[in-house]
Parts: sequence; C-alpha cells; structure tokens
Amino acid sequence: MEEIYETFKGKTVLVTGGAGAIGGTLVRKLNELKTKKIIIIDNLSSSYEWNLPKGPKIQFILGDILDEEKLRWAFKHKPQIVYHLAAHFANQNSVDNPETDLMVNGMGILKVLEHAHLVGVERFVYSSSGCGIYGAGSKIPFEEHDVSMKLCTPYQVTKMLGELYTNYFHSLYDMPVVNARFFNSYGPGEVPGKYRNVIPNFMFWAMNKRVLPITGTGDETRDFAYAGDLVEGLLAMAYYPKAIGEAFNLATGKEIRISDLANWINEIAGNSAGIRHVERRDWDKKPRLLASIDKAKRVLKYKPSMDFRKGLLNIHEWFEANWENIQASAEFG
Ligand SMILES: NC(=O)c1ccc[n+]([C@@H]2O[C@H](COP(=O)([O-])OP(=O)(O)OC[C@H]3O[C@@H](n4cnc5c(N)ncnc54)[C@H](O)[C@@H]3O)[C@@H](O)[C@H]2O)c1
Repeated sequence: MEEIYETFKGKTVLVTGGAGAIGGTLVRKLNELKTKKIIIIDNLSSSYEWNLPKGPKIQFILGDILDEEKLRWAFKHKPQIVYHLAAHFANQNSVDNPETDLMVNGMGILKVLEHAHLVGVERFVYSSSGCGIYGAGSKIPFEEHDVSMKLCTPYQVTKMLGELYTNYFHSLYDMPVVNARFFNSYGPGEVPGKYRNVIPNFMFWAMNKRVLPITGTGDETRDFAYAGDLVEGLLAMAYYPKAIGEAFNLATGKEIRISDLANWINEIAGNSAGIRHVERRDWDKKPRLLASIDKAKRVLKYKPSMDFRKGLLNIHEWFEANWENIQASAEFG
C-alpha cells in the first residue's frame, strides 16, 4: 500500500459527501496520509456536524453540489483528485422523493464533472452502486460487464446515470475517471435512520432492546463491504493507470444471510427481543446481491481484510462511544 499512499503526497483532494458514512472514513484516511489539503463539500442532509472528520488539513464547505457558487469555492483549491460521494441516499428515499434523487444524483454529478473538467483533475472517482448496475438478468456473482437494464428504484437509475456521465467525460474529454461500484457498506461512522442501511439500523434497535424487523424471509443475502476496506480500494483507484475508464466492484465476494446478521447483532448487543418478519418492500426484487471482486483484485490489488463479525463489533463499540449523539440524530419518522 505504501506506493499507493505516496500518490497522495502534497495533493489536494476534494471529497463531495465527505461528511457521510463512507466519505467520512475516506477523509479520515486521507488526513493520515501526506496529503496537502482535503476539501469536503457536503450539505449535511444525511450527516451530522458532530460526526464530521476534523483536522488541520481538512476544510469543510457547508454547501450543496447543486449550488454553483459553493462548487466554485470548492474547486478554486484546484484539487488534483476528486472523490464524488455526495448522493441522495438510497433506494427507499428515492422511491419517496424521486425528483430530489434525480436532481442530486443526476444534475449533481454533471455539475461536479464540469468543474472537475475545468480544473483538469488527475483522477475523478465516482461512487457508483452494485444495486444500480446489476439485478434481474445479471448472473451471480455479478461481474462488471453484466449490466442490467431492469432497475427497480429511481436511486438505481440515477446511480447508473452517474456512470454514464463519467464515461461520457472520459470519452469526450479524456477525463481520467474510475467508477467504484460499492456493495452494501457497513462500518463505524454510519448513523442509523429511516433511509439508512440495515446494519446501523439493526444495531440501533438491538441496543434499544427492540425486536429486529426482517423485510422478507431472512434468507435474502447481501455482500457487505467494510467501509475501511472500501477506502483502500478508493485510494488504489487514484493510483493505478489501468483503472482509468474502468468500473470495479468493491465488495467482499461473500454472502451474508439477513437472518444470520440479525442474530449476530442481537447477540453482540445482548438483545433477547429476537426477530420478526415483515413484508418485503415492493421495490426490493433482488433477494441475492453477490459481487465478483476478481477484477478489483487483479487491477487494484484489492484485498478486503475485515472479518465480518469483527466489523460488527467495531460498529457496536462506535455506537457505545457516540450513543448520546446517535440517539439524538437517529430519525425513523
Ligand atoms: N453505503 C452503501 O451501502 C453504498 C452502496 C453503494 C453506493 N453507495 C454510494 O456511496 C456514496 C456514499 O455513501 P454513504 O453510505 O457514505 O452515504 P451518506 O448518505 O452517508 O453520504 C452521502 C453524503 O452526501 C451528502 N449530500 C447529500 N446530498 C448532497 C448535496 N446535494 N450536496 C452536498 N452534499 C450532499 C450527505 O449529507 C452525506 O453526508 C453515495 O454516493 C452512495 O450512493 C453507498
């Protein structure tokens, strides 16, 4: 990893959505490297001031990626590397608010790409999504070429749209873009809430001694990727020339059953309230999500290393350390 880390020496890096769950983990790692400056632009629509990464090299711009003035402000620092992670997150939120989803994930990436083009970035890494690329019709495990046109939510549509835009900027302007297809991310730093991922929500309910609701039979599976591992993949994407113009699955290549996940979280939190089954959400048409990570291993030397149970313990520890803030921030209304 050392030569990858050296890439960042003296560089200014812009992270859109850098206050979020994955963005915050990325910014903390960039802050440990020999980066010159890390700029965050984030409107805190799904993140919190108390959870912001802090440090002398980190500059936080409170602003929307749809706001030209704020974008100009962020790009006036002439970042060499841009990580575009800001997004209207995620599936259920997009079903409830499809127009905001299109504005932020569609118009938002277009604006960020236009600014990145004007300053001539060395690398533009986009946080795409496995669920927005694969699905009905794609063969399991999902390989990068096996794109599905049968998507189930506005979020999936606009995450794919993002890749179409990065590819367009690569094709027309030769912009050095890389598409990172994350699968379900988990890790310390993600605050639970109505539109958040299953792991922080289960942890929150389990620590409040509540029954965990499983939407479906519990035999559904997901390929859960630890945010710390994803970040190592993101750093490699800024280093390897062969990554340019390509898309990579960032996951683990392992399936976890949702009922196993629920039982493990209850065990870790000492919750005896158990689980209950509720109806699967009508847009949720993908009972299994499993990535092939062969391409990322080959080109990026990507090696996800976090043991799943250990990752859950780390989240529990983070929840305990931040319990008051988490209780005050978690909204399920
Ligand atoms: N978490 C996952 O499981 C997962 C899976 C696949 C893809 N992704 C993608 O990875 C990226 C990061 O995901 P995350 O889990 O950290 O999400 P997150 O919601 O925690 O982070 C997104 C950040 O973007 C900010 N944001 C939203 N709209 C904005 C706007 N208009 N202007 C400026 N900032 C704005 C939010 O406040 C938040 O801090 C997203 O692009 C997401 O679509 C995530």
